[in-house]
Amino acid sequence: CRVEYLNYAVLDDHGWDLDDADLMETAADGGLDREDYGQFWVRPRESLLEAAERHGFAWPFACRGGACANCAIIVLKGDMRTRVDHVLPQEMLDEGFQLSCNGMPVTDELQVVYNVKSMPELEDLLL
Ligand code: FES
Repeated sequence: CRVEYLNYAVLDDHGWDLDDADLMETAADGGLDREDYGQFWVRPRESLLEAAERHGFAWPFACRGGACANCAIIVLKGDMRTRVDHVLPQEMLDEGFQLSCNGMPVTDELQVVYNVKSMPELEDLLL
């Protein structure tokens, strides 16, 4: 699966909105560092976090076991399956939140915003 990723931390700096349908196109043209925007491949049976780390990126995490939400991402396009999730309520899953620590892509392409743990929705879930 090919993953296109964007760091949530840069949205504010650029005045970008998560709800903007063209967010990824805008980011692609935004001259961002590879750490903040880019693409990588996820291998079969590899979690998104493991793939990010294999490519040299330091995405946030803590427990790696589906219990803390520090690794949360938002899926903008495509779909993932998360094996263990003890923390995200259904309404957040419905909004596209997933856990990168044990979430694996189930579509050939995925667009995600990572590092969303500073979003107010996640404040009470972080351990
Ligand atoms: Fe704790 Fe993913 S790192 S839920």
